[in-house]
Amino acid sequence: MKLSIIGVGYVGLVTGVCFANLGIEVLCADNDEKKIDLLNNGGIPIYEPGLEELVKKCIANGRLAFTSDIKKAVKTSEVIFICVGTPPRDDGSADLSEIEKVSKVIAENMDSYKLVVEKSTVPVETGEWVKKTINTFKSKNCEFDAASNPEFLREGSAIEDFMKPDRIVIGVESKKAEKILKELYGPLDTKIVVTNIKGAEIIKHASNSFLATKISFINALSNICDKTGADINAVAEGVGLDKRINKHFLKAGVGFGGSCFPKDLKAFIHISETLGHPFDMLKEVEKINEMQKDIVVRKAIDMLWNIKDKTIAIWGLAFKPNTDDIRSSPAIDIIESLLKEGAKIKAFDPAAMEKAKNRLGEKIIYCKDVYETAEDADCIILMTEWNEFKEVNWNKIKNIMAQCAVLDGRNIYDSEKLKELGFKYMGMGRR
Ligand code: UDX
Repeated sequence: MKLSIIGVGYVGLVTGVCFANLGIEVLCADNDEKKIDLLNNGGIPIYEPGLEELVKKCIANGRLAFTSDIKKAVKTSEVIFICVGTPPRDDGSADLSEIEKVSKVIAENMDSYKLVVEKSTVPVETGEWVKKTINTFKSKNCEFDAASNPEFLREGSAIEDFMKPDRIVIGVESKKAEKILKELYGPLDTKIVVTNIKGAEIIKHASNSFLATKISFINALSNICDKTGADINAVAEGVGLDKRINKHFLKAGVGFGGSCFPKDLKAFIHISETLGHPFDMLKEVEKINEMQKDIVVRKAIDMLWNIKDKTIAIWGLAFKPNTDDIRSSPAIDIIESLLKEGAKIKAFDPAAMEKAKNRLGEKIIYCKDVYETAEDADCIILMTEWNEFKEVNWNKIKNIMAQCAVLDGRNIYDSEKLKELGFKYMGMGRR
């Protein structure tokens, strides 16, 4: 069986290389020629642990190839995964123009049976539009099926998430489509949930919205802990040990970011309104997430009295560890707010420096490590829980800071130990 991926972004590239690694012949297509050239020359346009090695291995064994010729990708394969971007519009709804364009190219170039699978995060009923578009524009009378197969890949652990998923969701409307997708995923030892296309689309919205809700729930709780003197880490453990709740996604912090949660939440809120059943609870989830960033700024003010002209060391710029992605990263919004308050910012991130420079330019000082950021700083704010920030020499840091203050935005430090060393400490819901 031959498979094509259209749209070689994060999801497309990881999906393509992982299928190739399972032994399938995969052709990845994208109209961005620069990106395709880079990939053909062994380069990787994104930062993802393990990806580069796997791409090289699969190119070498002949199972993975890249092309900017989307028509060729359509003609040469039986299964086509659409992995193009669905960016948010101003009103929060997803922009589906790329999906429509790809559906049209598929329609115009198919000359045998095709299974067209949407993998991009899309609003419910996109599958219907894909079918309508292909039926409208198909030049030959070939059979096709549409299907939905949402991804649940986390940046930083995407390959493992693909290879060892909690479940695979397929939305299909024919036995043939179901059989093909089950065969493709056959080598993976996991439960395959089979439903219709709309069901699969809603599962994706529901999963991300529920996870975002868990994070906002624990963040709102962390603020109650701050006021009462309870410790959010202990509260999260006590709550999370209940199997019905479970401990995952209960880490309080500076708020969620990334390319999925903020965007998908907005899109689902928009869809629910369009359907006449506004999911207002999700608006509160968004609001808590925005507030959490203001709370970090307020805590910095509480620690330093006046922020104007103070130097703040920022540890971490990416929206989470093991990625260079700063899209909707809370760190970036918080830095912008601190700059407005007149603070001087020195920052370091193990992977996201280039992207941060493109975004923030000359507004902040970029440092080579934690120690350079801490030099003459009045406060450290830990934004991203990279391993590099877990083991630092606090005695050294104490001697180079102007004032010894740590705002632990991810609750990773031993507050007692820091206080013993003479640091002022504040966490998110713990002291
Ligand atoms: C997410 C989903 O997990 C994945 O299934 C989906 O397909 C794409 O979106 P990703 O955006 O890579 O993946 O990151 P994830 O690990 O889910 O974290 C999202 C954000 O939530 C990060 O900013 C992270 O720091 C934050 N988070 C996560 C918390 O603040 N607390 C937690 O307990 C967990």
